[in-house]
Amino acid sequence: MKRTLLALLLITTLFVSFACERRGGVTNGGGSGPILVGYYGDLSGRTSSFGQSTKNGVEMAADEINKAGGIDGRQIQIITEDDQGEPNKAATVVTKLINQDRVAALLGEVASSNSLAAAPKAQEAKVPMISPSSTNPAVTQVGDYIFRVCFIDPFQGEVMAKFSANNLKAKRAAILYDFNSDYSRGLYQFFKRSFESQGGQIVSEQSYTQGDRDFSGQLTAIRAANPDVIYVPGYYGEIGVISNQTKQLGIKAPLLGGDGWDAPQLWDLGGASLNGNYISNHYSVDDPSPAIQKFVADYKARYNILPDALAALGYDSMKVLADAIKRAGTTENVKLRDAIAQTKNFPGVTGQITIDKDRNAVKPAVVLKLQNSKFVYETTISPEGSSEPVATNN
Ligand code: PHE
Repeated sequence: MKRTLLALLLITTLFVSFACERRGGVTNGGGSGPILVGYYGDLSGRTSSFGQSTKNGVEMAADEINKAGGIDGRQIQIITEDDQGEPNKAATVVTKLINQDRVAALLGEVASSNSLAAAPKAQEAKVPMISPSSTNPAVTQVGDYIFRVCFIDPFQGEVMAKFSANNLKAKRAAILYDFNSDYSRGLYQFFKRSFESQGGQIVSEQSYTQGDRDFSGQLTAIRAANPDVIYVPGYYGEIGVISNQTKQLGIKAPLLGGDGWDAPQLWDLGGASLNGNYISNHYSVDDPSPAIQKFVADYKARYNILPDALAALGYDSMKVLADAIKRAGTTENVKLRDAIAQTKNFPGVTGQITIDKDRNAVKPAVVLKLQNSKFVYETTISPEGSSEPVATNN
């Protein structure tokens, strides 16, 4: 009797530990209950606008899917973690989402440095991760479970270099970048390379770190170099202050930036000093396409604010994940990873999403002009050799 019980106990223990072993092929989020999706982002730190907007977009997409019956009858359940915008915390919360909550997939982060810290955890556990908006190329290079639904920074840097050379006729550029940010350091290099290859000259290279409040030393050096434009690939928290100080020093050259400027708080910090500057970004709320206008109207009705690029990319990341789960017919990790990798011409709010062999999306960028606390659409720049319908003769 005792022996039988012992044997039973042993078998049960073995069975349970096998069922919990994901690498053995049993994946997180399996079964017929809700599909658990982990979202992680900065909800309380220096870049909390990014995390909040993305969360809004992710939740709106999940609600739409759930209201329409879910995925093969299963509802999506988002489990959210705040990483306070810090790389080490991003790694910690992702580990928790994987091991404790046993999510089927991860959505996040926004800031490239945070994605870079968390992605190895997802890769190690073989849980698919889709970053909505991290643009540094290294993020998806972490491994074959790491994807993104946005373009990457070699392209984003080139977009602003081309715009300054062609549209603003700039010959001399200064650069002021965030030394501790993978995103900012990357864009600095990519812009520089591209601007120089257009025949332009970089006349001053200066840096700061997140949290700095006095940029007068760097800006004084930049003023002395007499640039036509100043490229500042940073996040909104510092940009507003930099913009103010640029004007205080009597610098007339416009500031140029990237997607990292995109936050409603930018206008509180920089006010009228921001007028006449430009950024590259993922989409424009002014785009007249019916799909975008429907998204903008629905988002506004729900959150009472216009959706920034983070919200749109968060929304797209959830929709792309749901589409992949549906095509895979399971949340089993290998099949789900392959289905995400096979995403083709998915109609996102931020453009057609096709995942390329490096697990990145190749999409056009928009250039927006800052005017009276608004990002006004200026132009669209497509990647070379992109999906634009062009005649080929080879
Ligand atoms: N692309 C930025 C990064 O990689 C994040 C970002 C995306 C910020 C979109 C704002 C808007 O760090």
